[in-house]
Amino acid sequence: MPVEAGNIRRTGNSMQRLSGKVAIVTGAGRGIGRAHALALAAEGAKVVVNDYGGELDGQGGSMSPAETVVSEIASSGGEAVANFDDVVSPDGGQSIVDTALEAFGRIDVLVNNAGNYRPKMIFNMPFDDWDAVVKVHLYGHFNCIRAVSGIFREQRSGRIINTASEAWLGEAAVSNYGAAKAGIVGLTRVVARDLGKYGVTCNCICPRASTRMTEGLAFDQSAEREGLSDVLSKLEPEDVSPLVAYLATEGAKDINGQVFLASGGLIALFSEPRPIKTIAKDGRWTVDEISRLVPQTLAAELENPAPAKEG
Ligand SMILES: NC(=O)c1ccc[n+]([C@@H]2O[C@H](COP(=O)([O-])OP(=O)(O)OC[C@H]3O[C@@H](n4cnc5c(N)ncnc54)[C@H](O)[C@@H]3O)[C@@H](O)[C@H]2O)c1
Repeated sequence: MPVEAGNIRRTGNSMQRLSGKVAIVTGAGRGIGRAHALALAAEGAKVVVNDYGGELDGQGGSMSPAETVVSEIASSGGEAVANFDDVVSPDGGQSIVDTALEAFGRIDVLVNNAGNYRPKMIFNMPFDDWDAVVKVHLYGHFNCIRAVSGIFREQRSGRIINTASEAWLGEAAVSNYGAAKAGIVGLTRVVARDLGKYGVTCNCICPRASTRMTEGLAFDQSAEREGLSDVLSKLEPEDVSPLVAYLATEGAKDINGQVFLASGGLIALFSEPRPIKTIAKDGRWTVDEISRLVPQTLAAELENPAPAKEG
């Protein structure tokens, strides 16, 4: 249900690339989602600012984060409406899309960004924490994509921008979060193929920015991660959003199924996962053959990301 619409005063930005478009941003009451909502509005989009306003671990709820962002957009001359639904349920996803249709009559862009965070080592991971994190990230993405996909297919246009994390590549103490984020990469790649022929794109970003979520990061002690906390504290959510705004534009119509890293002034494209070494024979391998050959071939230069420690 729409609760507050901003005024329609415009700032006169002649380069508004999303003029006439309607965008949903989930989890837009704070952090990176808030920056996306402001950036999309600055490009002329009318924005549904979704946020149920909970704590970092997903507890509680408040209308004020989403309402505050709606007011910020309105005071810079944009149009926005707040929505307080929880992305975890299919009804929540549908209701967010309905809010866009009721308030603005159409929907062009979906930015899935809402997220929670409950890090713990795998042997201590409570089942509830696994469930709560996978539900918000992976189910949350699916629920909103499912709700817009028929509309996008019918109108033969649409932009979906998902939010993964470098945790999808493997990171200690975030089995729930890393698994959900890897799932989001997979979801992105499949949806890109389901909807691409209808003129719809689906891409994914892995952001880095200083937010309340990074304050709770479970840094492992490996050398490559050392100092990341310091680096993150200098990265602003606003650094991430220009890429998202670009992916929402007509100009990005042929970028589909891709995963980007966005961190301060750095934007990177991830490689396509593909086999890099092969062994093959006619028929089935024996365990003997594999034991002999794999160490000399496929596993010859492999590094163990977490080698065993004494004690
Ligand atoms: N900050 C980083 O460096 C970083 C790194 C990698 C990935 N990410 C991802 O970026 C996204 C935004 O993270 P952030 O750092 O801005 O965190 P944040 O906690 O500042 O913001 C997340 C927002 O999502 C909202 N939210 C949570 N669950 C929701 C639900 N079920 N329904 C609706 N809204 C919900 C919260 O209320 C909050 O306002 C997340 O998906 C996160 O995993 C962030």
